[in-house]
Amino acid sequence: MTVQVQDVQDFMKVVEGRRSVRSYEPADISKEVLKEILETATLAPSSSNMQPWRFLVAHDKESKSKLESAVLDFNKQRVAEASVGIVVLGDLKGYEKAEDIYSQAVKAGYMTEEFKAQFVQNSLNLYGSLPQDKLKEIALVDGGLVSMQLMLAARAKGYDTLPMGGYDPVKLKELFGISDQYVPVMVIALGKAAQEGRPTTRLPIDKVTFWNSMA
Ligand SMILES: Cc1cc2nc3c(=O)[nH]c(=O)nc-3n(C[C@H](O)[C@H](O)[C@H](O)COP(=O)(O)O)c2cc1C
Repeated sequence: MTVQVQDVQDFMKVVEGRRSVRSYEPADISKEVLKEILETATLAPSSSNMQPWRFLVAHDKESKSKLESAVLDFNKQRVAEASVGIVVLGDLKGYEKAEDIYSQAVKAGYMTEEFKAQFVQNSLNLYGSLPQDKLKEIALVDGGLVSMQLMLAARAKGYDTLPMGGYDPVKLKELFGISDQYVPVMVIALGKAAQEGRPTTRLPIDKVTFWNSMA
């Protein structure tokens, strides 16, 4: 598919328009719209396409107030005001869904049954033998990618977001009954901005880029 100038401009508008928003208007968001945002987010790449991300969506009042108590003080009001809070988790046993994932590929006509069997076996062998810290690293990388895409997908649909690392992971896991199979990646508040996010700057590319060697 060829990318048109208009597509690029639309994309840049979404990317440049996203800001961390810390004040939200009272507004509901439907499960349908949330599912669309999550679906777009999950078009993100992941290690061997194992998609180890999981989303815990605090959508109703009760779970939102639970989430509010799991985030640090400076984030509480942001979670309280947002339409929804999304806990992005990494599943350390995500590779166990290899069978589901490759069966979908067969059904879509992208892969033969024979290849599927091989791919499933390879995935189970490879990921099943990795140490926990490596699995965690993979889950965090893939979780970061999906989180970014989630925020852009939300922005494209007219919603704003705030990624948050300011939460108590132990409390979060306790309150929501999250087992050690899952590692929290970040919490994302999502809603309609009451106040635009403050502008931020970025280091010049020359300060963060090394061409060909780090020397
Ligand atoms: C992993 C991560 C954790 C963050 N945690 C918080 C947080 O706990 N509270 C907060 O207000 N902002 C948080 N931020 C938002 C950053 O402060 C913000 O992304 C940065 O200042 C750049 O601003 P921008 O997102 O508007 O471009 C976090 C961002 C990231 C990526």
